[in-house]
Amino acid sequence: MTDSSANEPVGLAKDAAARATAAGDATPMVGMYDVEKHFGDLHVLKTINLTVPAGQVVVVLGPSGSGKSTLCRTINRLEPIDSGRIDIDGTPLPAEGKQLARLRADVGMVFQSFNLFAHKTILDNVMLGPVKVKGMDKKSARDLAQALLKRVGIAEQSSKLPAQLSGGQQQRVAIARALAMQPKVMLFDEPTSALDPEMVQEVLDVMTSLAKEGMTMLVVTHEMGFARRAADRVLFMADGQILEDAAPDAFFTAPKSARAKDFLGKILTH
Ligand SMILES: Nc1ncnc2c1ncn2[C@@H]1O[C@H](COP(=O)(O)OP(=O)(O)O)[C@@H](O)[C@H]1O
Ligand SMILES: [Mg+2]
Repeated sequence: MTDSSANEPVGLAKDAAARATAAGDATPMVGMYDVEKHFGDLHVLKTINLTVPAGQVVVVLGPSGSGKSTLCRTINRLEPIDSGRIDIDGTPLPAEGKQLARLRADVGMVFQSFNLFAHKTILDNVMLGPVKVKGMDKKSARDLAQALLKRVGIAEQSSKLPAQLSGGQQQRVAIARALAMQPKVMLFDEPTSALDPEMVQEVLDVMTSLAKEGMTMLVVTHEMGFARRAADRVLFMADGQILEDAAPDAFFTAPKSARAKDFLGKILTH
């Protein structure tokens, strides 16, 4: 899986990036330029061009299999791309090496499954990244972790093990853990899909306050209430393409494509 194209803009990507610069746009926090991605014969991301300005909250909608998770995973290089370019705060993501680890720390990610270390305390789970990846001293890391756990409403549980917490609490810890790396961008891939219904709101509330504080966020979710209230912008994906890119109001009241109408019909009536 070589990916030499990642460092250098090539072909169309160079043109797309140049167009953005020529237009006088401020450096976007996330820039994807002519990104292509295949899994074998399956063309899973088709010429993705997307720029997300700092502080913007983007909700990504679309049917299962449309490429939403892959989009997120390419943004922090959990998946390599075939061609095109992805910049974080104006810096192209390198394909590999030490620099990648550092730049990847700029992109926090929260998944459906919380992936906390089962045998470490909540506090240790949140401290680990800053200590191991960023070389932060333990006292500073502990102070930071405690402050973040307080921010997500888990301060009292910091000496417990993950299994002693509810799903909603564990997901809030996962958010604190991602924030501990002091990322520039937060990606959320269906963060509430695995939760019991009564725990969804507490996680959405944390995400909403993060959005209000100005975090740049890309959120894959089926929570339409969150999309309407917290999103600055909605992307609708189908078959590896961004079919619509609109303000939430415009998208929900007047989707343009038949695919989006069909999707909204299903999701809003179920
Ligand atoms: N690691 C993989 N190997 C092969 N195919 C994959 C892999 N990951 C995802 N896919 C396929 O890529 C397409 C997009 O998947 P995904 O990004 O997970 O979509 P979504 O998150 O919108 O449901 C699907 O057809 C899926 O089966
Ligand atoms: Mg997915």
